[in-house]
Amino acid sequence: MSKETLTITDNRTGKIYEVPIKDGTIKAMDLRQITTGEDDFGLMSYDPAFTNTASCKSSITFIDGDKGILRYRGYPIEQLAEKSTYLETAYLVLNGELPTKAQLDSWTHTITNHTMIPENIKKSIDGFRYDAHPMGMLLSVAGALSTFYPDAKNINDSKVRRQEIDRLIAKMPTLAAFCYRHTMGLPFAYPNNDLSYTGNFLNMLFKMTESKYKPNPVLERALDVLFILHADHEQNCSTNAMRSVGSSQVDPYSAIAGAISALYGPLHGGANEAVLIMLSEIGSKENIPDFIAKVKGGSGRLMGFGHRVYKNYDPRARIIKETADQVFEVTGRNPLLDIALELERIALEDEYFIKRKLYPNVDFYSGLIYQAMGFPVGMFPVLFAIPRTIGWLAQWEEMMQDSEQKIARPRQIYLGYDTRDYVAMEARS
Ligand code: CMC
Repeated sequence: MSKETLTITDNRTGKIYEVPIKDGTIKAMDLRQITTGEDDFGLMSYDPAFTNTASCKSSITFIDGDKGILRYRGYPIEQLAEKSTYLETAYLVLNGELPTKAQLDSWTHTITNHTMIPENIKKSIDGFRYDAHPMGMLLSVAGALSTFYPDAKNINDSKVRRQEIDRLIAKMPTLAAFCYRHTMGLPFAYPNNDLSYTGNFLNMLFKMTESKYKPNPVLERALDVLFILHADHEQNCSTNAMRSVGSSQVDPYSAIAGAISALYGPLHGGANEAVLIMLSEIGSKENIPDFIAKVKGGSGRLMGFGHRVYKNYDPRARIIKETADQVFEVTGRNPLLDIALELERIALEDEYFIKRKLYPNVDFYSGLIYQAMGFPVGMFPVLFAIPRTIGWLAQWEEMMQDSEQKIARPRQIYLGYDTRDYVAMEARS
């Protein structure tokens, strides 16, 4: 068995160092001992965007980007999408094991009983402009919940943490649905505890004058599958934000507001919205070659393609494509689907995309389903944020129990001026 160490020769000094390798990594702090002299701070690693830096140890989600594998707590995403429900998967992601029937019943009961939101939050939503982006509203009101639950700042109390996790999982669909109803100028529809997690969400979104809203079972299941697929994705931008903000020991509502903000961006959860806008702008299949040529020429990106970790077909995109067929049987085919399929076909045969290993990601087809189900594009990133809440919270909980974690505080390479004297206004050119 070879020795699990790395030998480093510093050619500046000729000194040799041996640093341990554990789990395929070296500790960045082990580089600090490598100095050129007493005044030298020590060697650091430079890694903008953390492309090759592990920020934590985690047991939640496994991704093999080259093989296109995604597992939550060891369970393949394909099996969960086929056999599980969102709430069961959420329990798994949070607790590490699939629940027994009694555990699932109890968890479902708890979540169902926390779906109401404070009336004052409703008033805050009313205060937004009629055309406010739902994601902007969601991140504000999710953060605002911290003012209603001041105990949430007792983050070192595991019981408090658990209560806030339950609240957030339960209330996120209500917040999201109320934001949607506000943009539509519709009265808020209150939760119906007789329905499933996604059934109730559809109820709060789409209930009109009927006394009891009955969700279409195919759409309810499709949404549940989409929620399962979005539950967690290890150390992505928004999860990193959740951990980073949470590492300051702020309450989880404030940290979630940071995570939702990170997700909002078009390179992350906002990509599903950007895909729909892109497909609408392309307009017809004949315009695809011109569009691809522009992307290859450096003008814009093919949204919904490419991934930092997947260098193969995103397994979630494959499942979403199948789900889309089931949804379109109920809703009718989304006319943009033909453009998307042709775009995918052309891109996957094009040298530019092949060379860079750019494949469709989770956002390429999800927007088509959401649009067919009647969601406006502004709601698409919100539909990502609701199920990702369990991932953010499970990762936050894991961080809270990890004795190696501290407040997140990267280093920098300072390349600015050395000290210089203040220049009076009259003397400045
Ligand atoms: N269209 C065209 N070119 C692309 C694309 C794309 N979608 N993505 C990457 N490239 C090119 C990029 O220009 C670069 O080319 P070159 O080497 O010639 O400079 C090369 O591929 C590597 O790209 P990168 O920006 O270094 O890769 P990254 O790992 O930093 O970025 C990404 C990953 C997801 C931000 C990027 O692929 C992208 O912008 N995709 C479009 C937005 C998108 O669909 N985001 C959703 C991601 S999946 C869900 C989620 O995380 O929320």
